[in-house]
Amino acid sequence: MPEPTIITIDGPAGAGKSTLAKEIAKKFGYLHLDSGALYRTIGYACVQRGVDLSDEKKVLNVARSISVELQNGKVLLNGEDVTRQIRTPEAGKWASQVAQYPEVREVVVQILRKLARGKKVVVDGRDAGSYIFPEAQLKIYLTASSQERAKRRLEELKRKGFNLSYEEVLKEIVERDRKDENRPFAPLKVPEGAVIIDSTGKTLEEVLQEVEKLIKNDP
Ligand code: CDP
Ligand code: CDP
Repeated sequence: MPEPTIITIDGPAGAGKSTLAKEIAKKFGYLHLDSGALYRTIGYACVQRGVDLSDEKKVLNVARSISVELQNGKVLLNGEDVTRQIRTPEAGKWASQVAQYPEVREVVVQILRKLARGKKVVVDGRDAGSYIFPEAQLKIYLTASSQERAKRRLEELKRKGFNLSYEEVLKEIVERDRKDENRPFAPLKVPEGAVIIDSTGKTLEEVLQEVEKLIKNDP
């Protein structure tokens, strides 16, 4: 089998999806599409504009009216760099709230499909392999224990200058996973044909080696 043109990485919060996707992009020349960043930016844009996140129509209007760009790991909202602002646990909750609405999801899906046209892409998210790109040649479901995911996320937030407790971070990701797994439209699940990788106790390098074999189709 030739090298895949579309690679999807789905899984729960803090599993290491976007870190892995970035590494794959760098090493194998793929364009990285972080689908979660789009939901985070829509949630953030709504809050900035004072829009109630339970008002589906207003949230959809915001999603349709803003411009979101993914540029070399940076996220631009109407041209403004919001990379740091969208990474807070609060922005994760906002993302999860706006991601429940099917029409908002459709806006995001169309943006991603357009960005992927004619390119080699690695896309990370919750429904990348099950809904956005069911035709992807390589689908990965990356997971890890919730405790390990909370620990990793906490370290990452500390590095970025946010001060939270382990308990707060654990609670936030467990709640968000529950919401993502139980929403009726495009929930988080293992896509058909996906390779499941449990990264508990593994370094990023070890996970990358496993994925490299899958990309090269080298058992
Ligand atoms: O995108 P997702 O929420 O799945 O996770 P992430 O934003 O990539 O964050 C994962 C964090 O765990 C990063 O700080 C990584 O350095 C770290 N990590 C990892 O990604 N993979 C491992 N096997 C071990 C740690
Ligand atoms: O980095 P982390 O895994 O914590 O979150 P993310 O990938 O940035 O996604 C934030 C939220 O957006 C998730 O909890 C989901 O509710 C939503 N999301 C989604 O519904 N579908 C996607 N393809 C990606 C994210």
